[in-house]
Amino acid sequence: MTKKIAFFDSGIGGLTVLHKALQQFPDESYIYYADTLHVPYGTKSADEVRNYIFACVEAVVRENAEAVVIACNTATSLAVNELRSMYDIPIIGMEPAVKPAVEMNRDNGKRVLVFATALTLSQTKYNELVSRVDDEHRVDSLALPELVEWCEQLEFDPVQTAAYFRSKLSNLDLDQYGTVVMGCTHYPFYTSILRKVLPEHIQIVDGSTGTVNHLKQRLGLHVQQQAGSGERRREDKVIFLSSSGRTEDQDKMRTALQYLKEKSL
Ligand code: DGL
Repeated sequence: MTKKIAFFDSGIGGLTVLHKALQQFPDESYIYYADTLHVPYGTKSADEVRNYIFACVEAVVRENAEAVVIACNTATSLAVNELRSMYDIPIIGMEPAVKPAVEMNRDNGKRVLVFATALTLSQTKYNELVSRVDDEHRVDSLALPELVEWCEQLEFDPVQTAAYFRSKLSNLDLDQYGTVVMGCTHYPFYTSILRKVLPEHIQIVDGSTGTVNHLKQRLGLHVQQQAGSGERRREDKVIFLSSSGRTEDQDKMRTALQYLKEKSL
């Protein structure tokens, strides 16, 4: 029996997580819901965004989703606990991969740099996570709001983005860092560009693999074989929805998912 799994994000960022789920579980059926009326979340107030999140999750539950992946670090940090108390179906959240990053650098003394939205970084949930795992005070953080803006416009310009990363990192001594955490689901669209900007010794991690593993465990999914030319079929299995209901949004989501596939992101 296939499951109907909903993925939700403020915009197209959560496609970086859906893309990973499609690779492992191409036979499930998927809803992808983007709150295109209100993206970006990361620069707004917590109270405003919380209301948007509840409306979006209610919309996918009405579509008979059997599980919801909050494919947005910001939304998870603001509302995952309340959502879990509101619905009986599994609600899978995601948080910046700070814990594995700290572990990776436990023995080499290097620092960890977390990229996430300003709203995620201001939340108690994030700050408690850091206090819990960062016993040697080696975690720093930085918001990159322009990446969300560009991503929503399907702008993946390598020259502009590389210059942006360089200017954002210019005050840091990168030799001191061992890992960069992509703590916003929009950011992995730019991982290959960041890779070229960072010194080779710095690893880049994001939470998508961990989230898909969590989904697998919660729903008892088994990794499925992809049919040779099955990509078209896989995409047909995704129902794209957005808060604006515009068909342009659906085209944008399809194009972005195709981009992730082509770039092997
Ligand atoms: N993609 C979202 C996240 O993972 C938020 C981006 C935004 O809307 O600012 O945090």
